Amino acid sequence: MTIQQLLKEAEEKLKESCERPRFEAELLLSHHLEEDRTYLHAFDNHEVKEAEAFRVLVERRAKHEPYEYIVGEASFYDIELKVEAGVLIPRPETEILIDLVAEIIDKKNLRNIAEIGVGSGAISVVLARKFPKLTIIATDICDAPIKVAQLNLEKYKVDNRVHIRKSSILDEVNEAVELVVSNPPYIANDFKLEKNVGEYEPKEALFGGRVGDELLKQIVLDVKAKDIKYLACEMGYDQKEPMTQFFNDIGVKYYKFYKDLAGFDRGFVVEF
Ligand SMILES: C[S@@+](CC[C@H](N)C(=O)[O-])C[C@H]1O[C@@H](n2cnc3c(N)ncnc32)[C@H](O)[C@@H]1O
Repeated sequence: MTIQQLLKEAEEKLKESCERPRFEAELLLSHHLEEDRTYLHAFDNHEVKEAEAFRVLVERRAKHEPYEYIVGEASFYDIELKVEAGVLIPRPETEILIDLVAEIIDKKNLRNIAEIGVGSGAISVVLARKFPKLTIIATDICDAPIKVAQLNLEKYKVDNRVHIRKSSILDEVNEAVELVVSNPPYIANDFKLEKNVGEYEPKEALFGGRVGDELLKQIVLDVKAKDIKYLACEMGYDQKEPMTQFFNDIGVKYYKFYKDLAGFDRGFVVEF
């Protein structure tokens, strides 16, 4: 079968599951052939070798498996991160959290920080690359992210400054750190997610408890108890009100919420 024929067949198969079936078919075929998309257009009458293996990829995408898990990689900020089942695919909105944290690190000349819930390593790798003198301790409770994050640290040669530790929140972190950053699970346990997320991404990375903000609140309490000055967290679009109430209840001196690019409340920065 030629490139053109195979793309047409794949586009048809992806119609139900993808908003842009032709584009996704091209992405998958580029990945399969290890060529960029311009090649597909320039040589659309070329025969495709191992078409069956390509059809397997299309089949997986047709069942709503995220593209990033199929190709094993996700673009984030200015890097390409390895991802696999069991590891959250980093989201573009988390880039805003990184920029806010980078501003504080820069202004206050911070050297030692921690991340809670390292996942693929997205936040820690980007921050370590931005600040060559920064040291980060990054925790997670699950084995898959710990393994994959370590590979990403090595890929970007920041494994000498980012240290991953299996720990819930900061339970196993006793070193002095000046700031904590986290994109924790913050969705309510019974929230109905889209198929590509709910059926494929890890529950431990998504659900924060019955209400959703339980882990967020615990993080605030733990950071406060450890006398760490700054905390920056991503949160759900509907959590500004309960978090404001919580900050006031526990006497947080300074807090500021931020929005994502779609205009939704998306997180906060706290100074204790
Ligand atoms: C939403 S993902 C964020 C991953 C990555 N930081 C990112 O922004 O793409 C949350 C991560 O927190 C981890 N996690 C869940 N509960 C945790 C806990 N109690 N302590 C530390 N990590 C936790 C999950 O395993 C998951 O990797």
